[in-house]
Amino acid sequence: MILQSNPKANYLAHKTEIDAAVKQVLGSGWYILGNEVSLFEQEFAKNMEVTHAIGVASGTDALELALRACGIGEGDFVITVSHTAVATAAAIVRTGAKPLFVDIDPDTFTMAPQQLKSLLTTWESKKIKAVIPVHIYGQAANMPEILAIAHQHDLFVIEDCAQAHGATLNNQKVGTLGDIACFSFYPTKNLGALGDGGIVTTNNEKLAEKLGWLREYGWRERYISDIAGGINSRLDELQAAILRVKLPHLEAENKSRRKIAETYTNILSKNRDIILPKITKTNESVYHQYVIQVKERDALHSSLKEQGIATLIHYPVPIHQQAAFSDNDLSPLPLPNTEQAATQILSLPMYPELSIKQAEQVAHTILKVLH
Ligand SMILES: Cc1ncc(COP(=O)(O)O)c(C=O)c1O
Repeated sequence: MILQSNPKANYLAHKTEIDAAVKQVLGSGWYILGNEVSLFEQEFAKNMEVTHAIGVASGTDALELALRACGIGEGDFVITVSHTAVATAAAIVRTGAKPLFVDIDPDTFTMAPQQLKSLLTTWESKKIKAVIPVHIYGQAANMPEILAIAHQHDLFVIEDCAQAHGATLNNQKVGTLGDIACFSFYPTKNLGALGDGGIVTTNNEKLAEKLGWLREYGWRERYISDIAGGINSRLDELQAAILRVKLPHLEAENKSRRKIAETYTNILSKNRDIILPKITKTNESVYHQYVIQVKERDALHSSLKEQGIATLIHYPVPIHQQAAFSDNDLSPLPLPNTEQAATQILSLPMYPELSIKQAEQVAHTILKVLH
């Protein structure tokens, strides 16, 4: 079976170093917010070219706490896309705010800046406080346009980088483009822990300080809280030690993903009915996913499964069509590109340890099924 993602292969690729790091933490007697977490925060900040990185318990917590650090809560609205992991919207709701969904660009699957602009002009609401562009599948959203619009309306820009560790736009890393950015270390991510984890990055010292308080009961210093409503969302020492082993390999692993993507593109471009991923000239994608679009998506998905190739749909139901978020008020404008994408997207096997031979096999099988 060719898996769609394979976090175990990544563990095995770094097993000796990871096992040693885990053993060292177990023997250290310090398991939460210690040396490993501080060193990882410093190393991650350096790697991502930002001044502050604050480890938290998950990508969802990273988003919730970033929003709350920006002062967003009850009565506020936050604009994002419906074509994303439901976590993006769930984190907004957890702050007491409400999400407003805008459509995506059909080529890149990321937030359509013109839709953001339309919503802001039609709504004219003073209660919209922030926008969360999602760098989905490893490609940055159109940040220059989104930032220009957001600044005109005085909005915070919170980047959802959960699928884009190391991706660049105009040679600048995602996570450095907005006010604050959120990453997930879910095991299948480009940089994955062996459990849950997340991190918030920012160049804004005040936001970083507030984040540090919010992740631990509101503590300004041990046992002394300055803000109410702080939670317990700490990155643990084991995960930090594992992430410290993996971080130096991120760039090479992203390169492997790009090689696999190139292999898929070379072979699949022979069938013009397959819509291939489009990466804009200014972007370097880290291919968290390689997503094709075909009309007969469900049949292809089943045929590939029968032939031992696992694929996934990210995501089968747009958030605004899910029961929890289907209130019409949350999507004031139509979302045709989002709804269309959900019917024909398919994520092919993609992880750094997938061999080029396996990628060729996947692509040739697709051509055969669709002949
Ligand atoms: C785009 C996006 N945002 C947020 C998250 C949430 O991250 P986590 O699963 O670590 O809470 C994910 C991961 O599933 C994601 O893909």
